[in-house]
Amino acid sequence: SDSCPELKRDPKFSEITSEHVKYFKGLLGSESAVIDGLSTDASEDIEPFNADWMRKYRGHTKLVLKPGSTEEVSKILKYCNDNMLAVVPQGGNTGLVGGSVPVFDEIVINLQRMNSIRSFDEVSGILVADAGVILEVADNFLAEKSHIFPLDLGAKGSCQIGGNVATNAGGLRLLRYGSLHGNVLGIEAVLPDGTIVDDLSKLRKNNTGYDIKQLFIGGEGTIGIITAISILCPQRSPAINAAYFGLESFEKCQQAFREAKSQLSEILSAFELMDGRSQKLLHKASGRKLPLEGEHPFYCLIETSGSNSDHDSEKLEAFLEHVMGEEIVSDGVVAQDQTQIADLWACREGVPECLGHWGGVYKYDLSIPIGQMYALVEETRERMNRAGLIGDSDEYPVVDVVGYGHMGDANLHLNIPTRRFDKKVEKELEPFVYEWVAKRNGSISAEHGLGIAKKAFIGYSRSETMVRLMKQIKELYDPKGIMNPYKYI
Ligand code: FAD
Ligand code: MLT
Ligand code: ZN
Repeated sequence: SDSCPELKRDPKFSEITSEHVKYFKGLLGSESAVIDGLSTDASEDIEPFNADWMRKYRGHTKLVLKPGSTEEVSKILKYCNDNMLAVVPQGGNTGLVGGSVPVFDEIVINLQRMNSIRSFDEVSGILVADAGVILEVADNFLAEKSHIFPLDLGAKGSCQIGGNVATNAGGLRLLRYGSLHGNVLGIEAVLPDGTIVDDLSKLRKNNTGYDIKQLFIGGEGTIGIITAISILCPQRSPAINAAYFGLESFEKCQQAFREAKSQLSEILSAFELMDGRSQKLLHKASGRKLPLEGEHPFYCLIETSGSNSDHDSEKLEAFLEHVMGEEIVSDGVVAQDQTQIADLWACREGVPECLGHWGGVYKYDLSIPIGQMYALVEETRERMNRAGLIGDSDEYPVVDVVGYGHMGDANLHLNIPTRRFDKKVEKELEPFVYEWVAKRNGSISAEHGLGIAKKAFIGYSRSETMVRLMKQIKELYDPKGIMNPYKYI
């Protein structure tokens, strides 16, 4: 593998032959179902399925299968299991830990053709849909019914709801709507031996035995393929407001968060943090004009969702007046219409993409006790300074060290945009970051998962007992180890 030179292809897995390809073509039929790097009749370029979103991980699959039904997924997996063919489940391929692309020549099973909404109950708000439905498509469908998908994130235009559930994505409104572990009510999945797990429950309460579906939520495609989900969707708030403000210290960001919780209480739907450096790089890379004049070391984005627009914007204006009067916030702006709300959100959601502008990014997605969240960014920047690795010109590998993330969830995204990947930079970062987080009982992966990028570091966040229990589950569900090998645990 290009990205993990120390890894070797496991010889227990078969190599794909024309015999296998013949079987899959017979099963899936049309040309569009099989992209075949083995013959000359490839209908589509295979490269996008091999490379991840960050362009950091790259596999060498010769075969991408696009099943159109749960039965087809079942037949594919049974055949792969019987023939020792390794597979990688793939959704929108927007994951950030290298989990969605092959490491070697594993077969990619992409869910994009399974994209139907199966049902929606307007009274209960329960949506049942195929795993391959794009998150934004699901949310637009729900908007017409005055409901909202309880998850939103910057990759909504290409990630799939099955991929979201497989990674247990957190996103921008977890603070308000909670995690997928609570909102997902049921799952249909296929085990490696072809068994269809039909747990597409629409019940909010069902205490009849172990809650097996939870293993698939955040399972990252290591025990089976999710083919459909049933999910509880809240009523969409008719009134959405947003504000963006500048602050002088991280201490003040915390004060602002406390004030927001107490003054905006039930209408608060997001509280996001961006440091000044991340906003500066966003401006540099995209040319986007920032909402406030002047520079501040920190920015926060607040969103409210309620039922009465006038009442909510009054509350938000009063909140801003209060925190500015108390000198917690230095400057701020409240969006006046939909376009301005979208512009404010773009300053937050646009950060991940812009950080890749200079070459590569070292990404750390961490849970840290909230009071200490930003200290890690400062310490990491000092380390880079001391090592002489950070600077404005091309001779320095590191462009900057920035922090942003989901302040309301105490989830920091520590990012180190670089001009090139460099072993010296890596040595300064690891194990330093992981040890720093472990010392504070945080998590080395708050929401992006383990994939291949974080697999080796699970021990910083989980005990030996917990890892052993996880391995037992993996062996029970996937005894031959064909599901997303080389990753997770
Ligand atoms: P993929 O990337 O295709 O796959 C991810 C993992 O799930 C892989 O291990 C894959 O094997 C597995 N998988 C995919 N589909 C299935 C399935 N049907 N059954 C079983 N396994 C499957 N994450 C957050 O938590 N919060 C954020 O705010 C956030 N913002 C993001 C912003 C940007 C710009 C980007 C690029 C990513 C962001 N992410 C965020 C990362 C996040 O994990 C993904 O965007 C999303 O959840 C993955 O969905 P996907 O369909 O692209 O899955
Ligand atoms: C975000 O919150 O923007 C995402 O998790 C992506 C990232 O961490 O860069
Ligand atoms: Zn995030």
